[in-house]
Amino acid sequence: MNNHIHIMDHPLIQHKLTILRDEKTGTKQFRELVSEIANLMCYEATRDLPLKEVKTKTPMETATTKVIAGRKLAFVPILRAGLGMVDGVLELIPSARVGHIGMYRDHDTKEPVEYYCKLPSDIEEREVILLDPMLATGGSAIDAVNQIKKYGCKRIKFMCIIAAPEGLNAFVEAHPDVPVYCASLDRCLDSNCYILPGLGDAGDRIFGTK
Ligand code: PRP
Ligand code: URA
Repeated sequence: MNNHIHIMDHPLIQHKLTILRDEKTGTKQFRELVSEIANLMCYEATRDLPLKEVKTKTPMETATTKVIAGRKLAFVPILRAGLGMVDGVLELIPSARVGHIGMYRDHDTKEPVEYYCKLPSDIEEREVILLDPMLATGGSAIDAVNQIKKYGCKRIKFMCIIAAPEGLNAFVEAHPDVPVYCASLDRCLDSNCYILPGLGDAGDRIFGTK
């Protein structure tokens, strides 16, 4: 594993992730937790945003203080399940733009099928944070980054909640330049390419479609 992989072991994230995994957790709470975890992860994933100094007049005196140095951001959720992470990250960075990539895994081949792509027109100028709660075989995330790179984006990060070792290895090999932020590296995939222990089907649990 290279040093671009960040496993977020913060106690608040780990506690929320345990409730998320629990089969007894219902749709409403599941959706809230995905958003809360994404919010906490985004705090860490934006730690390297550049700052610049400005002068600020406090009620006491004028001080030299810091603000984010105008780097433009875009969040890109992979539909459907990535949508569950959008509210949480926008709470931290409300001015970010949001693009969408629609993809589903073919049930038989397990290969991703793209059905939608709408990105901000100036996406190549933006730092992109790709969102999807699950990195299983890695196929969906790898294809989504391929798609984003076609637009000329140079700075891309990938934020997922649970990764399988198989998917993480494939992703790092395909895109060694894209840092990965995840809350847990789970054990393995099952014969249907679902993550173990995982949390089941993220899209179905977020949208109550099972
Ligand atoms: C899930 C998940 C990822 C993908 C991960 O989506 O949200 O996009 O599977 O699997 P992979 O790493 O093997 O590609 P799914 O195909 O279930 O579509 P959905 O979100 O529309 O339900
Ligand atoms: N997609 C999911 O939603 N869950 C998995 O475990 C694997 C892929």
